[in-house]
Amino acid sequence: MDLFEYQARDLFAKHGVPVLDGEVIDTAEAAAGVTERLGGRAVVKAQVKVGGRGKAGGVKLAKDPADAVEKASQILGMDIKGHTVHKVMLAQTADIAEEYYVSYLLDRANRTFLAMASVEGGMDIEEVAATKPEALAKIPVDANEGVTEAKAREIVEAAKFPADVADQIADVLQTLWKTFIAEDALLVEVNPLVKTGDGQIIALDGKVSLDANADFRQPEHEALEDKAAADPLEAAAKAKGLNYVKLDGEVGIIGNGAGLVMSTLDVVAYAGENHGGVKPANFLDIGGGASAEVMANGLEIILGDPAVKSVFVNVFGGITACDAVANGIVQALELLASKGEEVNKPLVVRLDGNNAELGRQILTDANHPLVQQVDTMDGAAERAAELAAK
Ligand SMILES: Nc1ncnc2c1ncn2[C@@H]1O[C@H](COP(=O)(O)OP(=O)(O)OP(=O)(O)O)[C@@H](O)[C@H]1O
Ligand SMILES: [Mg+2]
Repeated sequence: MDLFEYQARDLFAKHGVPVLDGEVIDTAEAAAGVTERLGGRAVVKAQVKVGGRGKAGGVKLAKDPADAVEKASQILGMDIKGHTVHKVMLAQTADIAEEYYVSYLLDRANRTFLAMASVEGGMDIEEVAATKPEALAKIPVDANEGVTEAKAREIVEAAKFPADVADQIADVLQTLWKTFIAEDALLVEVNPLVKTGDGQIIALDGKVSLDANADFRQPEHEALEDKAAADPLEAAAKAKGLNYVKLDGEVGIIGNGAGLVMSTLDVVAYAGENHGGVKPANFLDIGGGASAEVMANGLEIILGDPAVKSVFVNVFGGITACDAVANGIVQALELLASKGEEVNKPLVVRLDGNNAELGRQILTDANHPLVQQVDTMDGAAERAAELAAK
């Protein structure tokens, strides 16, 4: 999960990374009071989860409270690379002497963590990385050792930070690493990390991405979620513990196992080419134990998507045998009917693998008017696409 800058700022403050005072608001009028409190001047910053805000006009200096209201009203509602600005952060202004860059991230390719640092920070770090790679130091960080004093010194030296700020930056690097570990982050980036006119080192902008795999031990992270931006179906699926991703097609997909679901998306997209270009409407992996309840939850989410015209249930029986899945489907349809949920979209079911014969027999006996069986994956995809195109 990517955080907004103001959330990153709060995490930095919590762990002791030096930041300036600031406050987030969602109406322009509120800017006056906040600017007053911040000392009469402020930087007004668009809060969107995309880079390049400054260049897009989303970061503006306000010289007094009235100017802050004016700047906030210009930035609120602005579109930055497809992201509408709903909130702005007002921050104290810094007297910037120099702008640096530091970050930690998970380096998957090299199976390690990576520190990156440069004395040429600011708005063009991507360009520095592309055209002057030698100006961006990259130092691997061992997960067990972390950023010790010695490691911090190594980073400072590699990036050639000036001697007068070396101690402060070594401190910030260690504190930032503690933040990275304590919050189970995949990325923490400070750009710019500035030296002020009076020689202070301050993080002026922060990007943080948190590892959702660690949510179970980070109960405070839930409050950082941008609920308003979440897709309502995805939010409902998440509440039910389902692995669901909304896509923009018409064929609802349920399968067991992420690999099978991925290839189901492919065969449906392929079959759809012969039926006016219909596409998969979602990814939904109901996992190994496809109980009636999980099946009902999955069907409920998929049938609740108005774009869905047909559903393809693709199951390969393994430890959970096809008869159990077939019973799950039958009971799920009963469960939904008893809850008064309208099931009015055709379901194409393909059962294969362990106890497939038995599973198919159960569905044949149940004789549900909306359920059709096709025994091959390609055939079922074809049928589901055809039904969605009708
Ligand atoms: N509190 C502040 N005081 C003074 N100047 C600031 C302050 N915050 C930002 N700036 C200036 O504005 C520039 C851009 O700000 P910032 O880094 O927050 O946005 P950005 O880099 O354009 O956005 P993104 O990181 O999303 O690409 C900074 O490099 C800095 O020069
Ligand atoms: Mg920045």
